[in-house]
Amino acid sequence: VKHALQDGFDRKISYLRIAVTDKCNFRCVYCMPADGVPPRAHGELLSAEEIARFVRLVAGEGITRVRLTGGEPLVSHRIIPLIEEIRAIPQIEDISLTTNGVLLPRFVSQLKEAGLDRVNISLDTLDPVQFSKITRLGRLEQTLAGIDAALEYGFDPVKVNCVVVRRLNQDVFGMARLSIDRPVHVRFIEYMPIGSDENRGFCAADAGENPDGELCPEQWDASDTVPSSELRQIIDAAASAAGVGGLEPVDNALLPDGAGPARYWRFPGAAGTVGFISAMSNHFCSSCNRMRLTADGSIRPCLFSDAEYHVREALRSGDDARVVEIFRDAVAHKPQEHEVIEGTERFMSQIGG
Ligand code: GTP
Ligand code: 5AD
Ligand code: SF4
Repeated sequence: VKHALQDGFDRKISYLRIAVTDKCNFRCVYCMPADGVPPRAHGELLSAEEIARFVRLVAGEGITRVRLTGGEPLVSHRIIPLIEEIRAIPQIEDISLTTNGVLLPRFVSQLKEAGLDRVNISLDTLDPVQFSKITRLGRLEQTLAGIDAALEYGFDPVKVNCVVVRRLNQDVFGMARLSIDRPVHVRFIEYMPIGSDENRGFCAADAGENPDGELCPEQWDASDTVPSSELRQIIDAAASAAGVGGLEPVDNALLPDGAGPARYWRFPGAAGTVGFISAMSNHFCSSCNRMRLTADGSIRPCLFSDAEYHVREALRSGDDARVVEIFRDAVAHKPQEHEVIEGTERFMSQIGG
């Protein structure tokens, strides 16, 4: 018998997001400092075995869906065996992966065979120059090849994540348009100014004016978030100008995955959809079903709260009862909603987005 796991505010907790590594082969400006996250001693990060053990224990508590994220989960050498182990846990109904797509062409068939259900791929722009600026280390064609690979191997749904920062994403309609011919769900995510000035590497030298239009995430704040409502109008206007027809609302319940925070729309006759994740303008805390596990073994009940429940030692010493106890405690203390959203101690890549 499965017992629904409930927090202090009557929310049913069923979804675990795992940052399998805090490393990444990109350095997206809104996610990580230019030099990457500070290196850690090997023993500080959870092994694949420890992660799998954690999932097994919390599956007994009511977790049924798992998302593997990071950092870039595909740079982890043990990602395939990890997926196999999670797949073998009977209570887990859904395993998904969030990736920048670079390594997808190489791993897609193994991922499928290991039992991965879904992939979400991050892509912010279709302009190659802009793409390289945002990701610092990436090339556009790599991520596009990743999307192709996912579609080719029959992953469904394939979601594309586009983080929108004011003045940065020049062609949101171009991105939205990807959903017309292909069965992809293009989701626009409101930029969340996470990480303190200190750990974002505050560049005092060029604080203030930024005449060259260089990306300067150190200076971004909540005013650089574009509310979804505004963005939808921009896309709608561009669509009518192009003769495509405006976005029509889609009933979330009709989509393959109605449980996430995105709200979906569709161009008339399109193969895919256009979604909006309004993490800032219209937060979805009251229906949040999530817990997070950081790469170094802390349970984080909320993306925006630095309150964490350290579980690594209990996992390592094999004290399963203690692991479950810590997890229950973390769930019981999941905050009702987030208030302070700037100045978290961690980078996005360490929390897992
Ligand atoms: P599914 O709905 O399972 O497909 O996953 P998802 O869309 O939640 O996951 P994904 O990793 O693709 O994340 C997309 C965006 O949503 C990222 O920017 C995440 O940071 C954001 N996000 C996911 N969960 C939460 C959450 O609980 N709170 C907030 N504020 N943002 C979230
Ligand atoms: N704001 C919003 N989304 C972000 N992501 C990473 N950093 C941020 C941020 N500061 C997104 C990535 C990825 C997902 C897991 O989180 O683009 O798609
Ligand atoms: Fe890597 Fe994704 Fe962060 Fe970009 S957003 S640096 S691809 S983890």
